[in-house]
Amino acid sequence: MKINLKTSKEISKMRVAGQLAAEVLDMITPYVIPGITTEELDKKCYEYIVNNQKAIPANVGYNGFEKTICASVNQVICHGIPSEDKILKNGDIINIDVTVIKDGWHGDTSKMFLIGKVQPHNERLVRITQECLYKAIETVKPGAFLGDIGAVIQDHAEKNYYSVVEDYCGHGIGQIYHEDPQILHYGKFGTGLEIQEGMCFTIEPMINQGSKYTKLLHDGWTVETKDGKNSAQWEHTLAVTANGVDVLTKRNEEAF
Ligand code: MF3
Ligand code: CO
Ligand code: CO
Repeated sequence: MKINLKTSKEISKMRVAGQLAAEVLDMITPYVIPGITTEELDKKCYEYIVNNQKAIPANVGYNGFEKTICASVNQVICHGIPSEDKILKNGDIINIDVTVIKDGWHGDTSKMFLIGKVQPHNERLVRITQECLYKAIETVKPGAFLGDIGAVIQDHAEKNYYSVVEDYCGHGIGQIYHEDPQILHYGKFGTGLEIQEGMCFTIEPMINQGSKYTKLLHDGWTVETKDGKNSAQWEHTLAVTANGVDVLTKRNEEAF
């Protein structure tokens, strides 16, 4: 395992990419409403990144993926492919995941959107999943362990009678989109690698209302819950600093 530690200069460049990715989520927010297709959302994000941000949508062409965003609705856990057949409807929950490359550096982030009036149990899933991400971010500092991240996520999810998806994980990130280390969203305190200044990685918990098991659809990308119950995900790209963490994809509405 080769972990590329980043200098503060490199982290500044990652912050530029991270902020562009965060701005894509802000830009798309007013359009994420009943009646729109996930293809239309994808097109808007593509145009914005290429024409306005003068940046590169990292997902396009990544291992054969053809779209700018992943758009994962309801029981879709991650990697939902935008489609003109997928029309958002009242009560849906959707994750939009976007990665931008600027000056060779990646910023990767995702958030959940509630479409119209959402049932309380779905709203609760979305909220608890965001809390899992935020609690995990709070544990990140030099001297803590990667296992602590998974442990706090698993604790909070299971306390709320949810399960943690184990088949997909967070990742190191920098000039390479997915690099070491893997960031598991389950685990035990005090285990795994010790966190060091200069590490950059994502945390992106996927939390299920039912069981943790997943199934990959025949399109080769879309990952759904095996039991058909809903799933939620939130993601940030982080840099480890001398005393804590810098959330490179922070949006204005977030405190940290
Ligand atoms: N952004 C996703 C992640 O968080 C990866 C998407 S890969 C794609 O790591 F090809 F599906 F876009
Ligand atoms: Co990621
Ligand atoms: Co992502």
